[in-house]
Amino acid sequence: MNFITVESYDKLSKRAASLIAAQVLMKPNCVLGLATGSSPIGIYKKLIEWNRAGDLDFSKTVSVNLDEYIGLDGTNDQSYRYFMQTQLFDHVNILPENTYVPNGCAADLAKECEEYDARIERLGGIDLQLLGIGLDGHIGFNEPGDAFISPTHVIDLHESTIQANARFFASEAEVPRQAVTMGIGAIMKAKKVLLIANGKAKKEIVQKAFFGPITPAVPASILQLHPDLTVVFSEE
Ligand code: F6R
Repeated sequence: MNFITVESYDKLSKRAASLIAAQVLMKPNCVLGLATGSSPIGIYKKLIEWNRAGDLDFSKTVSVNLDEYIGLDGTNDQSYRYFMQTQLFDHVNILPENTYVPNGCAADLAKECEEYDARIERLGGIDLQLLGIGLDGHIGFNEPGDAFISPTHVIDLHESTIQANARFFASEAEVPRQAVTMGIGAIMKAKKVLLIANGKAKKEIVQKAFFGPITPAVPASILQLHPDLTVVFSEE
């Protein structure tokens, strides 16, 4: 594991964006696994800046996102599809047909999950997976539990995740209670994993996840077994 501590969110964003840019430069048709939430916003700003300056080309790049709320379609400004469009996709030259986010409104969610994993396989797997980490140790929406769940699946969000994500909604009551999430399988099969954690509040869970026992009670802890893991942490 390559554990990098930096002193500010800006440095975290630059450092992580550089690693993503390096991946795209070395393999323009790579598959990027992307995340939402507050942590990657600075990274996406940097990627937009470099793309606009002509230094980074996404025209051959494919993206697969980690997760989506159930019941929110891409027109809903709280959906993760909407987030990706407004924070990144609409501002860079990635082709719309090359961006995948799970469909949380699929009539048959079990089929959607199966198809999502099959698509990742067809694409040749993920070259670089970007992850944030929840205060409870979740990655994607793989919540703490009794076992690591490998395939893409539907999950009941834990109370602490609902509370943490309420800041993005008008009220806690509006936070969807379920989500579709890529499972631990596709994440662990990614050739590289880049996890970012920002802020004092994440310090304890980062300690547990990367320097404590590997347990499904802390889903991110499984990443200790990944052969190419980089963690960028800022306490700011
Ligand atoms: C988002 C995701 C989540 C977040 C995590 C941290 O696609 O999968 O695991 O990465 O909840 O969120 P922030 O960055 O808002 O603290």
